[in-house]
This record gives sequence, C-alpha cells and structure tokens, in this order.
Amino acid sequence: MARVCTVIAASHSPFLFTPSEQWEPGRATRLARGGLSPETTVDTVAENAVKEARIKAAFGVLRERLTASKPDVLLIFGDDQLEQFDFKNFPALSLFTGESYSGYKISRWVGLPVGPKRPEREKTPENWVTVQSHPKFSHALMRELMVDGFDLAFTNELPDPDEGMGHAFMRPSYYIDPEYKIPSVPFFVNCYYGPQPTAKRCYQLGRAVRAAIERIPLDLNVAVIGSGGLWHLPNYPNSWLDETFDANILAGIKAGDARKTAEYFDSVVPPFDPANKASVNLASGGTGMVLGYGGGTGETRNWIVASAVADGKPGTVVDYIPVYASPIGAGFAYWDNP
Ligand SMILES: [Fe+2]
Repeated sequence: MARVCTVIAASHSPFLFTPSEQWEPGRATRLARGGLSPETTVDTVAENAVKEARIKAAFGVLRERLTASKPDVLLIFGDDQLEQFDFKNFPALSLFTGESYSGYKISRWVGLPVGPKRPEREKTPENWVTVQSHPKFSHALMRELMVDGFDLAFTNELPDPDEGMGHAFMRPSYYIDPEYKIPSVPFFVNCYYGPQPTAKRCYQLGRAVRAAIERIPLDLNVAVIGSGGLWHLPNYPNSWLDETFDANILAGIKAGDARKTAEYFDSVVPPFDPANKASVNLASGGTGMVLGYGGGTGETRNWIVASAVADGKPGTVVDYIPVYASPIGAGFAYWDNP
C-alpha cells in the first residue's frame, strides 16, 4: 500500500525568490502607491540580508527532510491565481491527473510584483521546466476521494500551457527538489477567490487524503506539501502583517491539532461593507462572493490540508520570518513520520 513519508509546509512569496537587496525598493514602491501600511516595521538592508539567509536555511532543512523520506511522488496542495483557471469556471478543488506539466520555476515575470509591468522571462532551461506527474497515483487518489464523497474536478491537461503551471506548485521544488526530478501531483485548492472551501472542509480533505493514500495498492512513498501563506494580503490597500494570526496557526501546527487550527482560521473573517462594491470586490478577490479570508492569507488553507494529513502528530516549525518589506509571515514546517 502507499504511505505518507513526510509532510512539509512552506510559504512561496516572490520575496523568498528575490535577492534581499531588492526588498527595500519593493517596499518603497508599495508604500508610495498605498499598498503598505505606513506603520509597518522597516528593516535595514542588513536585517533583510539576515532574513534572506534564514529563508534559505529553512528551505535547506526542508530539502534534507524531503530527501531523507525517500519520496516516490510529491502531492502538492496549492492554489491557482488565475494562471490556469478563470471565473468562467473556477474549481473549488481539482486534482491534476495528466502525465506531465510544464511551468516557470519561479514565475513568468522578473522581480517583485511592484511598479510598472515587469519584464517577461524567456522559456530557457534555467527558467522553465517540464515535470513528470504520476497518473497511476493521481487516478487512484481521484477514485478513492470520490468514493469518500469528495466531488473533485480533475485537470488532465493545463488550460493555458503557455502560461504553465501556477507558482504555488512550481516554486517549492525550486529549493527542495531543485532538479524537479520527483514526479509531482498538483492538487488545486481555491484559496484566493470567494467563496473558497472552508478550513473545516480543508481539514476533512486532509484526513480523507491520508486515509485514501493508505488504501491505494501501490508501493509508493508519498510526500505531502502545503504551499503558500502565511499572512499576506498583497492586493489590499495599506497591507499589514498580522503576526498574531500566524502565531495561532503555528501553535496549532506544533500541537498537531489540525482541527483546532482549522477552527481558528474559520473564526478570522475579512471585514467588508456589503453595500460597497469596492469593499466586496476586495474581500472576495473580485467574485462578489465573500466567505473566508482570500489573498495570500487564504493560502493558509494549504497548510491546513497538509497538517490534517498528519493530524495528531506535532509538527516541527523550522522558522517563522516576518518579511516586513512585503509584508508576509514566511513560515516553514515539517512532520517526520507523520
Ligand atoms: Fe501564492
């Protein structure tokens, strides 16, 4: 039977893939255009360099844990940010069931998402990669979850192959499987655009995925990755960092209590004025239908799915790094022998 060999959760902000010398210009541009709260802490260049080193070190620990677990396949929970899907038909939950996919290792655009349109990366071997997936595993997982009552969409081929697979699925491997050699199965969880699956549903999904993997009659080590978060709302005016939110999520991770983590997430809801269209658009990610937090903060759902796969086992938080220049709470965690 298949088995879960490790569980990993990591942030994937573009700041984590951009040299720290570029963080301060990024911060200044965001501040000037009203995208950052003026009360946000300002780190020095030296403090940013230390944070960049901590980020690289944390990814290094996750790479070691992943290698030591001898994975045959990665099951990556991430979110599509209009890279493949749009509002003509946006899946709440969808499993990639194809043979392979391609995408930019970091993103289509060079630099941080600030200022005028950034230059586009060429599709060179340095920037663009084709990743093998694992249809035997994904098809079996699809069947098991459907039988268990999860009515998943499936994605056999990417709707926009020129854009490539979304960053949530491409970026973690840049640091933890740099040659993109491990076959990978993306699992799309709608995190940004209301109404998203509740964290309660994400918890149920993680539990069901764990049970499903252990029913699949394939001799496979499955490494589960949760990609995104923690708190960041890059599209909000006067964006801020809620370190209390992140501390509460990480407390749940350390306690090995995924249900409690999910309950906390669902208790934090975005404030908005239902009579104000701009307010509704902001809180819903443009759909007009608000449920829980969207934006980068909404990606914490991917942590909740991952932690529910390892439910009951305390997670190890490798590091938590507040990158105020963004601002984002960058978190890194793993569960050995989940
Ligand atoms: Fe993201």
